[in-house]
Amino acid sequence: MSRLAMPSNPPPIQPFEAPRHVAIIMDGNGRWASARGLTRGEGHRRGVEALRKTVRAAGEIGISYLTIFSFSAENWSRPPSEIRDLMGLLRRFIRNDLAELHQNRVKVRVIGERNDLDPEIRRLLDEAEELTRNNDKLTLIVAFNYGARQEIARAAAKLAARVRAGEIDPSAVTADLIGQNLDAPDLPDPDLIIRTSGEQRLSNFLLWQAAYSELVFVPTYWPDFDRAALEGAIAEYHRRERRFGGLIAQTGS
Ligand code: IPE
Ligand code: IPE
Ligand code: MG
Repeated sequence: MSRLAMPSNPPPIQPFEAPRHVAIIMDGNGRWASARGLTRGEGHRRGVEALRKTVRAAGEIGISYLTIFSFSAENWSRPPSEIRDLMGLLRRFIRNDLAELHQNRVKVRVIGERNDLDPEIRRLLDEAEELTRNNDKLTLIVAFNYGARQEIARAAAKLAARVRAGEIDPSAVTADLIGQNLDAPDLPDPDLIIRTSGEQRLSNFLLWQAAYSELVFVPTYWPDFDRAALEGAIAEYHRRERRFGGLIAQTGS
């Protein structure tokens, strides 16, 4: 074989290091469905299947934290029938999948405003967190009734109350302290945020935590998302150079 000939078997792609925290804006269920003449509800049902596959893949790939945007604070403006579908799917997801998630040592966390949710949904979310609290494989953070501006406002209100009570001085309100009063202050910021469906915006998702996240937008509608799509987004992430305001690229996951 001449020195310039391509080897017949290209070397296998090196397994990549998984980003520690991946967050996903699962978008495009409705468009996936209407492209097939199906109802939006069917699109959401297929979206839950894609979610199951993605959680499994995230664990296999070695991601430590996976945040999923399931229902935004602004999604209440959708028609009541669609909201019923989405609430029903969340209920079913927790009832049907919680045991398996627990078995796979997935720890479930929930971010978003829980106070104004239906009491049954609230109880399910509390139960999921309680049952899985000691698990140590993958942390699945479910952003439900979540809006980042609302989350930051909640943190500001907590701090304002502490200032009024004389516990802290206004000058103690730093970026770190605000971060410590968000819904899940113990979690690292997302390294990678993926949005499916081709839309290129954050739609009020993790605005504070996304300060230095890499954003990857993929054209795939959420129901078609799978392990290969996740790996493709991670490969794109690895092509980015993260500098965090400095001059030198930071390596690591
Ligand atoms: C994402 O799909 C699911 C939720 C926002 C709950 P959409 O329902 O937004 O689907 P499109 O964007 O209309 O296609
Ligand atoms: C963001 O998607 C919310 C979720 C994926 C849960 P939307 O479909 O609600 O966002 P917009 O309205 O297109 O910005
Ligand atoms: Mg959408």
